[in-house]
This record gives sequence, structure tokens and C-alpha cells, in this order.
Amino acid sequence: MKIIATTTQSIDDIAVDFSVFLEESQITYVPRQKKSLDRIRVENQASAVIVWETTGPVLYINERKFFFHPSMAKVRISAFRKNNTLDPLIQACDLKEDDYFLDCTLGLGADAIVASYFLPRGKVVGVESSTAVCYIVKWGMQLYKSNMPWLQEAIQKIQVINQDHTQYLKSLEDNTFDIVYFDPMFRIPLMKSQAISPLREAANPNPLSEEAIAQACRVARRKVVVKERKGSSEFKRLNCTHMSGSSNNNVTYGIINID
Ligand SMILES: C[S@@+](CC[C@H](N)C(=O)[O-])C[C@H]1O[C@@H](n2cnc3c(N)ncnc32)[C@H](O)[C@@H]1O
Repeated sequence: MKIIATTTQSIDDIAVDFSVFLEESQITYVPRQKKSLDRIRVENQASAVIVWETTGPVLYINERKFFFHPSMAKVRISAFRKNNTLDPLIQACDLKEDDYFLDCTLGLGADAIVASYFLPRGKVVGVESSTAVCYIVKWGMQLYKSNMPWLQEAIQKIQVINQDHTQYLKSLEDNTFDIVYFDPMFRIPLMKSQAISPLREAANPNPLSEEAIAQACRVARRKVVVKERKGSSEFKRLNCTHMSGSSNNNVTYGIINID
């Protein structure tokens, strides 16, 4: 899928951050020259266009917009702060405050932000193979300004890497992270999941490989955790031996305990 990047209609210069974004992502820059996004896309035979806006990059794809926003993470952390409701991801991973957490499927970063909030002395790395998704989320996170310091800190702590997770896992030594986590695109999507529907357009749709799980088991000190639809046959295929999740939720966490 060819993706190009440009500025808003009123700006023709490349801001410093935008030039770093272009260099890191290797996405082709096309000057806007007051043209419509559709015209720019067609002229360059691209499938989608990223516009560098003041709050961060926005991907325009198939009449949808995809950009970073921490809304779901904020709701989940707020539920804990207000009512002490423990998030199902944190329960499934049994996170300790100094754990090292590897999110192998960063997506919009909601799970990584929630984990980061619960790891004040730990570390969070997020890996994303889709270049567009990765750099939109990375720069969206970098430019995000919240008046809630707890949210800002949780977001800023995440290190983002653009790579296929199997390749990244292979580059790591044994026992590098406490928890290795996967939330691949579900084999059968939950149609109600509004938060990820624009993401679906640009995401890597491939199933989780057995090789990725084998590498994760080598890299994890305590647990490998996989999120999928409740009752999914993926749990059996991937050798998840324990399940975590509430009975009134349509999502389950499959767990492989390392020790
Ligand atoms: C369902 S989304 C993850 C949502 C994320 N947990 C969140 O809270 O926003 C799955 C993401 O994993 C990415 N992905 C799929 N296969 C991958 C792979 N082999 N390596 C890295 N990322 C991958 C997809 O591109 C997509 O962005």
C-alpha cells in the first residue's frame, strides 16, 4: 500500500518534527500546493495520505481518519483511579510495578498506555509492523499534551519500534521482558469495536504465528499473554493453557505461564 505525506492546505513548509517523521518513516513527502487530498492521492497513485497537523499526523484512508488518541486508555485508567476497578489486562498479566512489558501489537497504544500507568518503575516497549500505524501513534504520543500528569507520564514512557514482532523477538536475549503481550487483529472482528475500526484499514491483518509464540516464550520471564475473542480456536492453536477475563466480556486473555 503506497502512503504519502503532506502538510495542511495553509502550510507549505516542513516543520522540524515533520522532517524527523519523514526521515524515520521513509514515507514520501509530496508538497501540498493548496491541492485537495483526493487530488494529491490520485496524482501520486497512493492509497492513503498522511497530513501533518499541529496535534500530530492524521492518516486519511478510504474516507476514514486515523490518528492517535488515548481516550480508551484514559477511560480504563480512570475506572481504576475512581472506583479501584482493576483492568482485565492488568489482571491477566498480573503486573508488578517494576515489570518490563513488551507489547508486540501496539496498534493505537491503548493497552500499552494502561500497562505503562501500572508500571511506575518498569518499562514498556511497543512493537508495530505497519509503518503508517507505527509512526502515526509514535508521533501522536510524542506530541500529545494532557493536563493529567498521570496520563502524560504513562504515554511518554512508551518506547515505540517499527518492526515485525517475530523479527524483533528474535533479536532479543532470553528472559528480557517479564510479560510479552499480543493483541492481533481478531480472526473474526468484533463489529462493535469502534476504537479500532479506522485502524483496521492500515493494520497488519495476519494471524499470530507459532514461531512468534515460541520466541515470546524464550524472551518472557513470567508470562506470554494473548488477547482474542472469547471461545476463539486461536487459544488452542497457540498453546495458551490458562484463561483470564470476566464472563460478561466478549474478550478473553489466553496465558502461557513460563515457570
Ligand atoms: C488489534 S490491534 C492492537 C490494539 C492495541 N492493543 C491497542 O490497545 O490499541 C493489532 C495491531 O497489531 C499490529 N500487528 C499485527 N501483526 C503484527 C506483527 N507481526 N508485528 C507487529 N505488529 C503487528 C497490527 O498492525 C495492529 O496495529
